[in-house]
Amino acid sequence: MSARAIPIDKLTATEAEQELAALANEIAAHRAAYYQDDAPIISDAEFDALERRNLLIEQKFPKLIRVDSPSKTVGAKAVTRFAKHQHKQAMLSLDNAFNEGDVTEFLARARRFLALAEMAELAVTAEPKIDGLSLSISYENGSLVKAATRGDGNIGEDVTGNVLGIADIPKQLKSQNPPQFVEVRGEVYLDDRGFAALNTIQIAAGNPLYANARNAAAGSLRQIDSSVSASRPLRFFAYALGAKNGCEFVSQMALIGQLGAWGFVTNPETKLCKNARELIDYFNEIGIKRERLGYDIDGVVYKINDMELQTRLGIVTRFPRWAIAHKYPPKPATTTLEAIDIQVGRTGVLTPVARLRPVLVGGVMVSNATLHNEDFIHDLDLRIGDTVTIQRAGDVIPQITGVDKSLRPENTEVFHFPKTCPCPLSTKIHRLIDEQSGEAEVAARCSGEFDCPFQKLRHLEHFVSRQAFDIDGLGPRQIAIFVENGLINEPSDIFKLHEKRGQIEGLEGFGEVSINNLLAAIEARRDIALDRFIFGLGIRHIGHTTSGLLARNYGTFGGFRAAVVAAMGARPSDEWRRFSFIDGIGPVLRDRILDIGSPHGIKLPIKAEQAIAQIFPNPHEFEALVTAAANGRPKAAYLEFAAQDGFGEVATDALIDFFANETTTQALQRLLAQVTPLAAEKPTSASKISGKTIVFTGALQSLSRDEAKAQAIKLGAKVSGSVSAKTDYVVAGEEAGSKLAKASALGVKVLSEQEWKALVGG
Ligand code: IVH
Repeated sequence: MSARAIPIDKLTATEAEQELAALANEIAAHRAAYYQDDAPIISDAEFDALERRNLLIEQKFPKLIRVDSPSKTVGAKAVTRFAKHQHKQAMLSLDNAFNEGDVTEFLARARRFLALAEMAELAVTAEPKIDGLSLSISYENGSLVKAATRGDGNIGEDVTGNVLGIADIPKQLKSQNPPQFVEVRGEVYLDDRGFAALNTIQIAAGNPLYANARNAAAGSLRQIDSSVSASRPLRFFAYALGAKNGCEFVSQMALIGQLGAWGFVTNPETKLCKNARELIDYFNEIGIKRERLGYDIDGVVYKINDMELQTRLGIVTRFPRWAIAHKYPPKPATTTLEAIDIQVGRTGVLTPVARLRPVLVGGVMVSNATLHNEDFIHDLDLRIGDTVTIQRAGDVIPQITGVDKSLRPENTEVFHFPKTCPCPLSTKIHRLIDEQSGEAEVAARCSGEFDCPFQKLRHLEHFVSRQAFDIDGLGPRQIAIFVENGLINEPSDIFKLHEKRGQIEGLEGFGEVSINNLLAAIEARRDIALDRFIFGLGIRHIGHTTSGLLARNYGTFGGFRAAVVAAMGARPSDEWRRFSFIDGIGPVLRDRILDIGSPHGIKLPIKAEQAIAQIFPNPHEFEALVTAAANGRPKAAYLEFAAQDGFGEVATDALIDFFANETTTQALQRLLAQVTPLAAEKPTSASKISGKTIVFTGALQSLSRDEAKAQAIKLGAKVSGSVSAKTDYVVAGEEAGSKLAKASALGVKVLSEQEWKALVGG
């Protein structure tokens, strides 16, 4: 804007009035982009400059201050955004099924978990999966008291004021006898007509169009000004409950009936099905009807109808075991492959990424797609300039599914994967050899580790990511700027940023408000949940779920570290590993041979004989290996660690490597000087089995082993796969074998299935 070039003391009143009007518009648009769409268009510094100029003009021309002046709305409306709301019961996501096989497997898994006979009927509801955003509405004694978005599943945003105008949401439950408390869950969406009408208004107002109904619904619900939300034709389908007190339901269908009676709109397409065939038929029928439904859907949702079974099935981390979303495949799109870049991951894995001419796929603009690895590019013979087909399945990263060679331009060249890492170290790329198969991994790696600046960046990004330290306002963009300017080099430096405030102020894009917010967000993480801390360390093979498991099993960081260090001292020798990997020698046979200390007199399976003959042409070499392996067997602390349910040797070894490495442990010490991992909460300290280590063996009759394990974990016990002196109980079903024998030998208490059920109150 040219007027902005005019120094404020030279502005005429007319110019000032015009500029204040323009600034009001412009600042409002930037606030919306930043606070509602999470997509700022300009840097914080540029934004601060606009606000400052607005203020200075107002100071010079106080009579011209507008009713809608941005200076009047700072603190209250824009900066606070929405209050946080803690859901009483977590809002879960759904696992996805992409084909019929996934659907049958979902049913089979539920049956196995519940130990149901194959032919036993298992009723399942089917309903459309609305492409909107989930909302949780709390009612106390029948009155609406709170409405909140999903957020991270536990904490969402309080949008109560914004849903009061939605006609599909009753403010008062229609009931003489409403429950004391209930969280009603469902989907806020815009129907086709509402979406079209909204975009017509956007055009008339000169605003950008919404790409799809989902974005439009999200944008409408998250309006700072609730009168704007109220003017949007938002709708709501109710489909589930969260926490409740004073109401119970025998089935999903009964719940849907009650939601309707309370005054909610429930989906009229909801249907009760009896088997996989009926579910698939439903999926296909809705697929045909899809265009005529009048609102966007991206799949159908199946839910086990019986509530008692739902409770027994429970949840796995974020997903219920009793429900699944069956997704429709998105329509593929074609575009041009403009370049292939190599990205370096946290562990040095080099991933080729396709840079594409931007194209809309399922309502989302796509300009990058993963190319997985070198082999993927070669198998498709992808070349720069090719016309490629892109698919995007749900939240999954876009994929290239094909290439149209008939459209290939002339003189294209075969793509050669680089031999060195694109990082400034230009390290040699290598492919790790898989110990078991002896084959090279498909993934190529940079060997630079912590010296590789890309790996360092990825490490820091991982450290602040959502499931790790989750620091508001500190994402990949900010990390890159701080690293580039020498402000941070490793995670512990993040907690010293406050000492460098002066330097941050000098950086482009960091205004006063954003620096304050950032430093406050960092301070808020000095005390950190143990699972987030462990996950944040970015140890190979230690993902989100494993981190949760370790936190639960060891309770404190000290306890966890001590267990890894003990495992380190008890780890097996390389000879033992080599011996273990011989084809055809399973763990039972392996231990028998090592007990004796020699293979003589033991009949080996043909497969093992062949493998041994091939690897050890000289039998003495094999005998020497057996002797060395017998001396290098893993000891209890290692075996116990690796035997934790959900664990294994690969993850155990990765942890040991981390704690054996001086670079990583020193960085860890520096981090521990800044932050305190909190002791993990015990799930139910009152339970008789909390803190106990339990091993399940043999076939249980009235429940599956998976269900029994899930019960144990829920009640705060550790589940292990092998019996040791530290085992508290062995629960033995029918035909229990060596584990039962070992329990008796070690004097570990053995429980029958009935005794187990009595113990856990089932
Ligand atoms: S049930 C515990 N039913 O899909 C089960 N979800 O991918 C809770 N969604 O977060 C969800 N339509 O926002 C359910 N008919 C439907 C749905 C539905 C859309 C959304 C919901 C959820 C997401 C999971």
